Amino acid sequence: MFKFQILYQSRKNQARIGAIITHRGVIETPVFMPVGTQGTIKTMPPEIVSSLGYNIILSNTYHLYLRPGPDIIQELGGIHKFMNWKKLILTDSGGFQVYSLSQFRKITEEGILFKSHINGTEHFFSPIMVLEIQKKLGSDILMVLDTCIPYPLSYEETKNLTELTHKWAVESFEYWQRHKNEKQAVFGIIQGGMYEDLRRYSAKFITSLEFDGYAIGGLSVGEPLETRNQMIETSLEYMPYHKPRYVMGIGTPLDIIDAVIRGIDMFDCVLPTRNARRGTVFTSKGFLSIKNASFKSDSLPLDPECECYTCRNFSRGYLRHLFHAKELLVYFLLTLHNLFYYAKLMKHIKNAIKTETLENLREEVAQYYLKNF
Ligand code: GUN
Ligand code: ZN
Repeated sequence: MFKFQILYQSRKNQARIGAIITHRGVIETPVFMPVGTQGTIKTMPPEIVSSLGYNIILSNTYHLYLRPGPDIIQELGGIHKFMNWKKLILTDSGGFQVYSLSQFRKITEEGILFKSHINGTEHFFSPIMVLEIQKKLGSDILMVLDTCIPYPLSYEETKNLTELTHKWAVESFEYWQRHKNEKQAVFGIIQGGMYEDLRRYSAKFITSLEFDGYAIGGLSVGEPLETRNQMIETSLEYMPYHKPRYVMGIGTPLDIIDAVIRGIDMFDCVLPTRNARRGTVFTSKGFLSIKNASFKSDSLPLDPECECYTCRNFSRGYLRHLFHAKELLVYFLLTLHNLFYYAKLMKHIKNAIKTETLENLREEVAQYYLKNF
């Protein structure tokens, strides 16, 4: 079972509140998915992630395929049981990770040849193979294999890679028609680089295939904020109203609000978790780097307005000390705070949609997060 219902449509913009209904329960949208690349949200016990209000996370086919391997995860009862996460899991297809992580890759009409970033062994991903791997993992939402389009890239090359994504989408769709099951849903991915007509072409093509939802890929690759928003807008013109719309790998608090206003329902991003491990936290007044010497003897919490466990119990001075001493506790405490911040942001966004005040919330957040991080 996989259904999407729109519970409230804003009268002032394209933002909507929705519900994704699955056999694992209902999740409200707009939703942010923390990233659990290797079957863990780094440093965080699943119960704590869940207690912050998250009920869907993202994991990566590329990593889990290389280690420990889909057969082992299947043997141990599937990804949910393996990592003890009882709510939803979306797995990315691996295309994007192959580009960013493996040293060697060759794209053919059939798929991607690559070398493992762990031990250099050679592997091949085809559109059908990545669905088969995700079937074994047992994730709830599966992503199709797509091509990653770097920025900037010429029109011709962008068009070729977009058309290859389309070919793979058709193969994925046809495979799924024959091998689908009741428990797993599959999303298509729109590409098209930073060319409006190619975005239009890709959005029309991908949405002509009856996937359970649709994602916009190829963003947050170094393009300016305005270009990103323009590409989202163009893609959205062709995305069906009654299916979930997901923008991949985004983003900052401002990116998220900008996309929600345009009608996006789902997000994932490493920002809250990765930034935490680098000592950067999100606060109601913008970014703060705990490494800063000015916090040496600061008795205030990270964010005096935050009610998270970290802010209720520890000072900036203490957290700065832990960070400089590379004490492991700090990675947990900062990740917890950042995930709390994102959970609260999503609550504020949903509330602002219902009260038709999303533009005001955007202005407030833009004050502190306008600069690209
Ligand atoms: N994560 C961020 N961007 C992308 C993308 O374009 N494709 C995939 N598969 N994953 C992503
Ligand atoms: Zn906090």
